[in-house]
Amino acid sequence: MKKATYFLFTACLSGIIWTSCQRESLPDPGASGLMELELPVGVYDFNQPGYNNSSSLKGKVINNDLATLGRVLFYDKALSVSHTIACASCHHQERAFSDGLTLSRGFMGEETARNSMAIFNMPLNGTYFWDLRRDGLKEMVLDPVQHLVEMGTESPQLLAAKLKEIPYYSELFSRAFGSDDINGDRISLALAEFISAMMSNSSRFDNRTLTPQEERGQTVFLNAQCGNCHGGRNFNNMSIFEGFAVGNRGGGWGGSNGGNTNLNIAGDFANIGLDYSYSDPGMTPEKQNEIGIAEVEQGLFKIPSLRNVALTGPYMHDGRFKTLMDVINHYDHGVKMHTNLDRRLLESVVLPNGTIEFVDKPRRLNLSQFDKEDLVAFLTALTDETLTTHPRFSNPFQTK
Ligand code: HEC
Ligand code: HEC
Repeated sequence: MKKATYFLFTACLSGIIWTSCQRESLPDPGASGLMELELPVGVYDFNQPGYNNSSSLKGKVINNDLATLGRVLFYDKALSVSHTIACASCHHQERAFSDGLTLSRGFMGEETARNSMAIFNMPLNGTYFWDLRRDGLKEMVLDPVQHLVEMGTESPQLLAAKLKEIPYYSELFSRAFGSDDINGDRISLALAEFISAMMSNSSRFDNRTLTPQEERGQTVFLNAQCGNCHGGRNFNNMSIFEGFAVGNRGGGWGGSNGGNTNLNIAGDFANIGLDYSYSDPGMTPEKQNEIGIAEVEQGLFKIPSLRNVALTGPYMHDGRFKTLMDVINHYDHGVKMHTNLDRRLLESVVLPNGTIEFVDKPRRLNLSQFDKEDLVAFLTALTDETLTTHPRFSNPFQTK
C-alpha cells in the first residue's frame, strides 16, 4: 500500500468531536451524522489525459492536491458556524450540484432568497450568482461561508482558525501549498480549484447518440431560438465552446448585441418576462452601472446553462417551475410583457430590406404537445452521468 494512500481518519473523527466539544453552543455532531474522512489523498487523478478537453481550457491543468483539499472543504460541515451545513448540503452531486428544493435551507433552517444553482463548467462563466454579482470564482467561494442565512461563519479569519484545530487539514494544506499555514486566501484557492474541476461535457448530446425523439427535440430547440440565449456548447450563450453556436450574443439573430441591453459582456443575462413586476429585482443597479447599462432594468438574471437541466429543478431564480414542461409552457405562451422584456422574446417581423423589426408583444411559440415532449427529451439528453457519479467529485466523508 502506498504510504500516502490512506489518510488517518480517527484523527479526523476525534478532531470533529474535539472542535465541537470546544464550544458549548454547537449541536452534537451525532445529530447531523458523524463524519469520517475516507479520502485516499491524491489517488483521484484530476490530471488524467483528456480530462480538460475543451479548447478554452487548454493550458488550465487542475492541481490535484489543491482540488483534493477543495473537495474536503466543499463537503466539510465545519465550514458552517453550526457544524451542520457544508457547501454540498445545497449542492448535491447527483443533481449536478443543485439541491432539488425551491429555496434552500441554511444553517438555522431559514430559507435562502433564491434557488440553489447547479455547479459545473464554472470556468466557462464570467460571472456568478443569479444576479451576476461576482466576477471571479476565487472571489465568490467564501460568500456562502459568510452568508447570514447559508453558513453564518463570520469571517475567513475565524474559519481559518477553526480549520487549524482539525487535524486532517494540516496535511491537506501542506500537500497543496507546501506549508500548513491556513488562511482565507488559501481556502478560496482550493475551493475554486475543486469547483473548476467539475467540468461537464460528456452527455449523450456530446457523444452524438441522440434518439430520433431527441433529434426532433433539438430541431424544436433550434426553431424556437432557445439558442439565442442558451447558445454555445455550454448552452448559456458563452461562445467559448465552439460548435452548436446558434446565434450567440454578438453575432446572432438578435443583432449585434442580442438582447435589450446595450453592451456585450462575458456572462449573459436577460429578463424573460416571468412577472409584470419582479419582487426580486435581479441584477443590482450598482452592478448594472458598473457594466454600463444606462437605464436601470428590472428582472435581469443570469442565463443558466441547460446542461444537466433535467436534474436541476425546480427552475428559475426562485424555483417557481417544478418541471421542464412548466418551463416550456412559460416560453410557449406564458411570457409577460414586462417593460424590460428581452427583445429576443419579442415578436418580430423581417422587413423587405432584410432588417428585423420588433413588435411590442411577447413571442408565442404555439408548440404542439408532441413538440414539447420532444423538447423535454432533448433537454434530458444533456445529462452527463460522469459529472453526477464520478468518485472524484463525491463526498470524502463517510456518515456513520
Ligand atoms: C444554504 C444553501 C447553500 C450553501 C450552504 C451553499 N450554497 Fe452555493 N448557492 C446557493 C444558492 C441559493 C445560490 C444562488 C444564490 C444567488 O444567486 O443569490 C448558490 C450559488 C452558488 C454558485 C454560483 C453558480 C453560478 O452559476 O453562478 C456557486 C459556484 C456556489 N453556490 C458554490 C458554493 C460553495 C463553494 C459553497 C460552500 C462554501 C456553497 N455554494 C454553499 C445555496 C447554497
Ligand atoms: C432572452 C433569453 C432567453 C431565451 C430566448 C430563452 N431563455 Fe431560458 N432562461 C433565460 C434566463 C435569463 C433564465 C433564468 C431566468 C430567471 O431565473 O429569472 C432562463 C432559464 C431557463 C431554464 C431554467 C434553468 C434553471 O436551471 O433554472 C430552462 C429549462 C430554460 N431557460 C429553457 C429554455 C428553452 C427551452 C428556451 C427556448 C424555448 C429558452 N430557455 C429560451 C434566458 C432565455
